[in-house]
Amino acid sequence: MSTVLVTGGMGFIGSHTVIALNESGYDVVIVDNLSNSKTEALNRLRMITGKDFRFYRADCRDKEAMRTVFEENKIDSVIHFAGLKAVGESVRMPIEYYDNNINSMLTVLELMNEYNVTDLVFSSSATVYGESEDVPFTEESPLGMCTNPYGWTKWMIEQILRDTSRAYPSMRIALLRYFNPVGAHESGLIGEDPNGIPNNLFPYISKVAIGALEKLTIFGDDYDTPDGTCLRDYIHVCDLAEGHVKALRYIATNEAGIDVFNLGTGKGTSVKEALSAFEKACGHKIPAVIGPRRAGDIPVCYASTKKAEEKLGFRATRTVEEMCDSCWNWQTKNPNGLSDKAE
Ligand code: NAD
Ligand code: WQD
Repeated sequence: MSTVLVTGGMGFIGSHTVIALNESGYDVVIVDNLSNSKTEALNRLRMITGKDFRFYRADCRDKEAMRTVFEENKIDSVIHFAGLKAVGESVRMPIEYYDNNINSMLTVLELMNEYNVTDLVFSSSATVYGESEDVPFTEESPLGMCTNPYGWTKWMIEQILRDTSRAYPSMRIALLRYFNPVGAHESGLIGEDPNGIPNNLFPYISKVAIGALEKLTIFGDDYDTPDGTCLRDYIHVCDLAEGHVKALRYIATNEAGIDVFNLGTGKGTSVKEALSAFEKACGHKIPAVIGPRRAGDIPVCYASTKKAEEKLGFRATRTVEEMCDSCWNWQTKNPNGLSDKAE
């Protein structure tokens, strides 16, 4: 059985990917420092899969702790999710973001090299395309000037991995550029659990729908789009999780080197469309007002999915309705996320 080290595996996308890996017959080892997740996620994973996953509470920058993980387990491949991801916070705390995201990746790479682990899947982001308005984004679209330190960490790690691949030709690396991951596992046992007031649209709508926040502010309705609000490529986190399994299989069965794939649906959904789909899911009106545009937002962002379809055999199948239904199911079953559980 092939063993995958999943860093950041207690987080939103990582935990859903652990389930997908388990369903596909992989053995999983999780490393997470719990800076943005709770140990309760491990219990939830057990409830869903019936399995006790090996879990190390460790910081990926801690070389000795990571060496223990590689020493105690025969790791065949790594999916590196661990990282800080809040755009606004990264503007206020650039040093923490560069330190955490870049040094985590470097330490993981050092240990992969030391233990002859060649296969790596990295969580990149559509944010590396910058503020270009040339949609859909293909993997060949030029990388843009990022608008925040978080985005630059992804941009820089992509470059680090391209250089690493050149210097270590036996490595097999997939860079996955996610668009807008949303939704939750159908069980409602795991989902997105942001600290404090959410910045992203779906968690924010969800909090308004449950009455924890007063109203949604729609950031601008004067864009050059059909209803004036921005279009984004929302992808169900369970589709995204399956994309990681396909990427792992792809690199394991293809020539060594580095390749990059968009993971999205190829379809743009407006803020107003997302809101009304969520209203359908929760069965009531959600208070919303129109506000000014948010700095750094581009009008339209969606993926070209051709390369992922052709090379990975990956196609997202879940609809925006399913994204809203699953988000609402998770929200109503866990009104306080996992935070009410003891550490
Ligand atoms: P998340 O915060 O839910 O998960 C990240 C996990 O990594 C958390 O559990 C956190 O505790 C852990 N972590 C952070 N720094 C660590 C460190 N130094 N050592 C060990 N663990 C550490 O975020 P997510 O939404 O699941 O995102 C996963 C990855 O995907 C991140 O790299 C993120 O940048 C990337 N990504 C996310 C999105 C999105 O919209 N959610 C979009 C594109 C890319
Ligand atoms: C979506 C749309 C907002 C909140 C971000 C990161 C990106 C990636 C995914 C990690 C936009 C509008 C939002 C609100 C609103 N993450 N909106 N009111 O900005 O596309 O992408 O998450 O890599 O790097 O930047 O996602 O969910 O914040 O916004 O009107 O209260 O919803 O203006 O059009 P975004 P989002």
